[in-house]
Amino acid sequence: MKSIKSQPTIFIIYGATGDLCWRKLAPALFNLFLDGWMPEKFTIIGTGRTPLSDDDFRNKMLEGINNFSRSGKAAEPQWQLFAGHVRYTAGDVNKPEGYSNICEIVESNSKEWNAKPYVIHYLAVAPTLFPVIAKNIAANKLNDEGLCRIVIEKPFGHDLESARALNQLLNENYREEQIYRIDHYLGKETVQNIMAFRFANSILEPLWNRNYIQHIQISVTEQLGVEGRGGYYEGSGALRDMVQNHILQLLCLIAMEPPVSFRAAEVHNRKLDVLTAMRRFSPEALRSTVVRGQYGGGWLKGKEVPGYREEPDVNPSSNTETFTAIKFFIDNWRWQGVPFYIRTGKRLAESSSLISIQFRDLPHFVFPPEAIDSWQQNRLIISIQPEMSIRLQLQGKRPGLDMLLNTVDMVFDYKTSYSSYTPEAYETLLLDTMTGDQTLFMRGDQVEAAWDLLMPVINMWTNKPSVNFPNYSAGSWGPELAEAMIAGDGYHWFSLPVNGKH
Ligand code: BG6
Repeated sequence: MKSIKSQPTIFIIYGATGDLCWRKLAPALFNLFLDGWMPEKFTIIGTGRTPLSDDDFRNKMLEGINNFSRSGKAAEPQWQLFAGHVRYTAGDVNKPEGYSNICEIVESNSKEWNAKPYVIHYLAVAPTLFPVIAKNIAANKLNDEGLCRIVIEKPFGHDLESARALNQLLNENYREEQIYRIDHYLGKETVQNIMAFRFANSILEPLWNRNYIQHIQISVTEQLGVEGRGGYYEGSGALRDMVQNHILQLLCLIAMEPPVSFRAAEVHNRKLDVLTAMRRFSPEALRSTVVRGQYGGGWLKGKEVPGYREEPDVNPSSNTETFTAIKFFIDNWRWQGVPFYIRTGKRLAESSSLISIQFRDLPHFVFPPEAIDSWQQNRLIISIQPEMSIRLQLQGKRPGLDMLLNTVDMVFDYKTSYSSYTPEAYETLLLDTMTGDQTLFMRGDQVEAAWDLLMPVINMWTNKPSVNFPNYSAGSWGPELAEAMIAGDGYHWFSLPVNGKH
């Protein structure tokens, strides 16, 4: 069991007046406190450029908690107890002397607690500030090897070169064991369950390979558009925003070899093996197995929504992709020849993240053709959100006097199997930064391997702006080319029925 009760801890949030702190970090820290996970002695320090009093910052946190916490509005007595641990100090993070107030609080807490605290530096800031803050923390000697950890939000780099430079800078000032590169997908309950499901059951492993699996799909679709983040998204796009991190991490969890143990280094090594074995794109593959799209105006949930190029802070002739679909291969013994199709996009018909594993066809069909009522090859569906479930689709006999085969689902659904609450991804990950468990974080070499794989796509898209953007309507399932790519191999994109309809 994780326990940090007796470990005095100071949690410093850089960029504390920003959206991430408000929406995610404040509710997560408060829920950890409510559930008894926070240390007995802890201080949360918010820091940013804006001058705020401790109370102003506490009120801002409370607003975030009341709006976004899974446990609803904060009850007054618990909030007052929690608020007593929260401080704010304004400072210019660009200058080494901007950290003096933080140093003072660390110093005075150490005296009061009569112990050297663990110090977690959480960089919830624009990526351009990662290097200077990382350096200045070290310049202020707040990077003690045994006690300090630094948490870096995504995006980790903009391309391979910048990711390498950031890794190098971090490695000059911190040991790898101190660096926590966050990918919030890895903290999701259903994503963690992929490892439990694969490696705590013996019946799957014999089937989990090219001999039994025909193809795999990873589909992360969103109805949301860029939600006021046009400025950020313009420099990012779907590939950098979702594929380089979340989707490749999901793919690694599905494709990795069983680790020797659940220790962080073992898990990281096996994931790196997958990224290293992924087939590099040939010029022909870049043409035929990579699709990009950008949404135009359309209708979603009965409302008319603007196209991407009409969103605030977006260039009216933008070349940024809001959708991508790619076919990957992994050149190793387990996966040779099995296509991994991924797709992700904004303003699509449904919001859903799921992984579909389709097994091979029957070697021989013993029933007469008229026995088929509905037919589907065996499929395992791991639904990450909004439904949290794992379904195995099998063929069965429909009750009746005729032999009629149809598809039935064996379902493990969180809602019916567990009555306990599901923590938010950030709760799991913040606790892990405090307990010092890096299993659900990305190691530097993994991040670089993911960039390395995608650089040919990035370069091609940069050098050849799209001539047909926008090429899908908001509210659709994306560009026709994405359908055509998978249909060319004889498959179609899988989605779970919503209200009984596909
Ligand atoms: C973030 C991306 O990392 O993940 C967003 O920057 C995206 O663009 C979000 O919307 C999706 O996360 P979730 O948890 O809502 O699926």
